[in-house]
Amino acid sequence: MTQIIKDIERAAEALHRGAVVAIPTETVYGLAGSIYSDEAIKKIYEVKQRPYSSPLIAHIPNIDVLSELCSDIPQVAYDLAEALWPGPLTLVLRKQKSVSGLFTSGNDTIAVRMPAHKLTLELLQYLGEPLAAPSANPFGQVSPTTAAHVYQYFKGQIPYILNGGPCTVGIESTIIGFEEGRPILYRRGCADERIISKIVGKPNEMLLSDGKSKAPGMLLRHYSPRTSLRLCEANEISVTLSEHAHLKTGLITFSRAVAHPDVTNIVLSPEHCLEKAAAGLYAALHELDNKGLDIIIAEKFENEGIGMALNDRLIRAAASHRDVKQNTSGVAEFIS
Ligand code: TXA
Ligand code: MG
Repeated sequence: MTQIIKDIERAAEALHRGAVVAIPTETVYGLAGSIYSDEAIKKIYEVKQRPYSSPLIAHIPNIDVLSELCSDIPQVAYDLAEALWPGPLTLVLRKQKSVSGLFTSGNDTIAVRMPAHKLTLELLQYLGEPLAAPSANPFGQVSPTTAAHVYQYFKGQIPYILNGGPCTVGIESTIIGFEEGRPILYRRGCADERIISKIVGKPNEMLLSDGKSKAPGMLLRHYSPRTSLRLCEANEISVTLSEHAHLKTGLITFSRAVAHPDVTNIVLSPEHCLEKAAAGLYAALHELDNKGLDIIIAEKFENEGIGMALNDRLIRAAASHRDVKQNTSGVAEFIS
């Protein structure tokens, strides 16, 4: 049986004995286990059906813990952490030898962040050890932003879901690493771009040059609902709806409501606020996915700032195997 609780002591007791517990963060809910328990880490991979080749993120209660997990930490990493933690930024750094290779998929680097969620920070303080926490969804599916989303995925498989209310950021953290001293952006998110560029300049984007992603969150098909998803430009909504007139259709728009008798339309932010749209995007995908529709159509965002992070998630969510081919250098391309 899975219980939805608010009591960090019960969650901590379960985590201490090697159980896996879902926890809230400001970005998405995580499926947590002690990073010092190989048993818990194995359970996370099993429950999520995640390949062992995808490393996890360590969640810590304060910056001081960084040096317990990482070595050779560059000053810019401290500067980023001081400016943006607690918050939706993950840093990839060289790991300490004491960190299990199971946790890092055998890499000599480790991803770490300090989440901005009161309940989870209290839990981390109380526990006294960092938690591994990938997003609490089966591998490749849409991340959960409420306790109810997690329950739908994992009821009966984990003892507790710590309920911290709906996530306020709504998409996964920005991930930045360093290769040969250069900052590399592994995943776009909602961490403040202006602050990042003041500290590290504009990070290079991760290139899939060898066709092998260093950040599994960058797999082409990811964050996907069961219902097929089609993206369209803001000025193509009417045409796209008429192309699918014979289907039961859900529509996600940024700020404009589209009146159409047979279409369920979720407007993410009538006030045209990208932060609000991010906070609501996954909940909208979950809600429409539960309606037994034939198709979900989503409007693309302007490709700037958080809009780019949202488009990144939408493009991956919409990618189906037949939409994608690998080009000769192994770089995935969209063909529709
Ligand atoms: O917002 C978030 O980051 C959420 C919440 C729960 O904190 N967590 C999350 O975890 O999104 P997950 O496991 O779904 O995504 C982990 C990402 C993957 O893209 C993975 O490749 C990257 O972190 N990652 C982990 N270790 C890495 C490493 N050593 N080098 C590069 N990327 C790494
Ligand atoms: Mg994930």
